[in-house]
Amino acid sequence: MRSKITVIGSLNYDVILKIPRLPQCGETLPVKSAVFSAGGKGANQAVQASKLGVETYMVGCVGEDVQGDYLVKTTEKYGVNTKYIRRCSESTGMGVVNALESGEVYACIVRGANFAITRADVDAAEEALKESETAIFQLEIPGEINEYAIDKAKKCGCRVLLNAAPAAEISEESLKKCDILVVNEVEAAFYLKEKIETSEQAEKGALYLSEKYGADIIITLGSLGSVVCEDGKTTFIPSKKVNAVESTGAGDSFIGAVGYALIEGMSLTEACKFATCCSAITVCKPGGQPAMPTLDEVKETYKD
Ligand code: RIB
Repeated sequence: MRSKITVIGSLNYDVILKIPRLPQCGETLPVKSAVFSAGGKGANQAVQASKLGVETYMVGCVGEDVQGDYLVKTTEKYGVNTKYIRRCSESTGMGVVNALESGEVYACIVRGANFAITRADVDAAEEALKESETAIFQLEIPGEINEYAIDKAKKCGCRVLLNAAPAAEISEESLKKCDILVVNEVEAAFYLKEKIETSEQAEKGALYLSEKYGADIIITLGSLGSVVCEDGKTTFIPSKKVNAVESTGAGDSFIGAVGYALIEGMSLTEACKFATCCSAITVCKPGGQPAMPTLDEVKETYKD
């Protein structure tokens, strides 16, 4: 039985600023401190799966710069297999995250080396895909490479989980090859072409997307919780009430945890309940990857 995960996606060097409010146009806003953290949706999701105990491969590109050194070292430190991370001449990707005290996050990314990934990089990881139960994708690498990689993962027998984030056009054909599609409320609005503000709207939207693409759907709703549509049945899963410090990577923690839980044999709905516990722990510390829990931490925090 296969029990590994391959993540094909982004690695970013994150600069996280905790800001009291958004600056006005022309204003220079002083902030107390910055947190530097290994990030990128791909690497974050790989790290969470690995921290929970899944053998995980990361496929992607970083630059030949100090940020690239840092990202490879950090990913390795968390147990992820980095042999398919290629160093290239472009600068390492970057995330600039402005996190408000209220928990709202305004983020920008610099694509950099993430856009240097090629079909050859995906082909090089074929062995990993053949050993993996699940392949996880996001939209922080070129769309054409994602489409190629999704097709390859499917042919290699993987369950395909696409986190369609940040929201971008991707072919209908590729979306139909996905087994699980995960979006947050902003991304869901992009694909549904209508606002998602309540769990009822999310349930309706998830059902629509599920029928359209023939996939199971998860719509995460930040501090509200998430909605999962599994085999045409929707369930709302409320979030855990915690004292959130900073939410960068919370969605990635959720996705890495879903990957782990499915390998453990949980249904998708059960997997989402487990993942809700993981992301609740992640938001209680600053930074994405350092804050993500190990399996022992999850068991200790949520004993029942
Ligand atoms: O999901 C959070 C991540 O999105 C950050 O780590 C940032 O790098 C962006 O990729």
